[in-house]
Amino acid sequence: MTNFMKSKIQKLKQDALKEIKSSETFDFLKNIEKKYLGRKGELTNIFHEIKNVSKEVRKDIGKFANQSKKELEIALKEAGENFKEATASKILGNDWLDITLPTEKKLGHLHPLSQIQYDIEDIFSSMGFMILDGPELESEFYNFEALNIPKDHPARDMQDTFYIKSKHQTPNAKEKSITNNQISNSQLVLRTHTSNLQVRAMQKYGAPLRAIFPGRVFRSEATDAGHDTTFDQVEGLMIDKNISIANLISTMKALLSGIFKRDVVVRLRPGYFPFVEPGFELDIECLICGGSGCSVCKGNGWLELLPCGMVHPNVLKYGGINSKKYSGFAFGLGFTRLVMMKYKISDIRLMLGGDLRFLNQF
Ligand code: PHE
Repeated sequence: MTNFMKSKIQKLKQDALKEIKSSETFDFLKNIEKKYLGRKGELTNIFHEIKNVSKEVRKDIGKFANQSKKELEIALKEAGENFKEATASKILGNDWLDITLPTEKKLGHLHPLSQIQYDIEDIFSSMGFMILDGPELESEFYNFEALNIPKDHPARDMQDTFYIKSKHQTPNAKEKSITNNQISNSQLVLRTHTSNLQVRAMQKYGAPLRAIFPGRVFRSEATDAGHDTTFDQVEGLMIDKNISIANLISTMKALLSGIFKRDVVVRLRPGYFPFVEPGFELDIECLICGGSGCSVCKGNGWLELLPCGMVHPNVLKYGGINSKKYSGFAFGLGFTRLVMMKYKISDIRLMLGGDLRFLNQF
């Protein structure tokens, strides 16, 4: 009995080793493992049989069977490892792999609007400004009233507004505490400018305050190459003791030289916005012709770039800031236009159109 079983085990082992030697793929090895050592494998079955033999010989055969099992396991493992090496050197040998080559897959990238937004954010954070976010769906209060543009004021017509229908218009607690009767029937609009965050920021952080608010704004306009209903602005606000027009100009120069990577000559012209006094239009000397006049600046040497001014005392008041103690400046830079200027893009509708043929150029 002993000899019979031993030779059976021996035979199984030899068969298995032979098969291992001649196997060509990992799958083959897996199958061999299963065939001999699996739950119903041939060698496994012998272990079941061993249970039935007499006690005296069981130990002897058991030892032999265990040894054979180990041998098989080792052979399988070694074959697997050799196999891995062989496959790798086969791939490397036949098909040389240059792991330094860039991949063919096209990776995504930032939209030019995001690129410029992040540049602007970097410039202002380095000057100690916070970067704040706020609602695009806004109450008329923050979009207009708090900015010194009361209802029926002709300045409301400066911006074409999307009004939002809502049945239940309840002002939030903050709005209530400020000017109860003025905003009690404040209706919702899509913000027409990022200036909506001026008074929100003042109420939240008080003075002194340095913050920028980049974001999307909306106007109800007929679209054409120069106009879209949606575009991007960045608002800036600085409030402290003794802030003057000189601070405004130097901050704008720091912004512009950061963006254009060179010194930029600026000038201020008077401009009217109800929430600043005095208000300005800031022009830059034409970057193409350096001021001598060309087709980009339409011959006058200057490009109109951003509206700005000193924060109106009424706005500070809405923000809960004492205008006798504090003053500030604000500006609103349309960076959609800035990107268009930078890359000479002639149609604003391309900017948010999502056309990959356009976007892949950046
Ligand atoms: N909010 C104004 C606009 O969108 C721009 C502006 C911002 C003007 C800040 C002055 C100060 O037209």
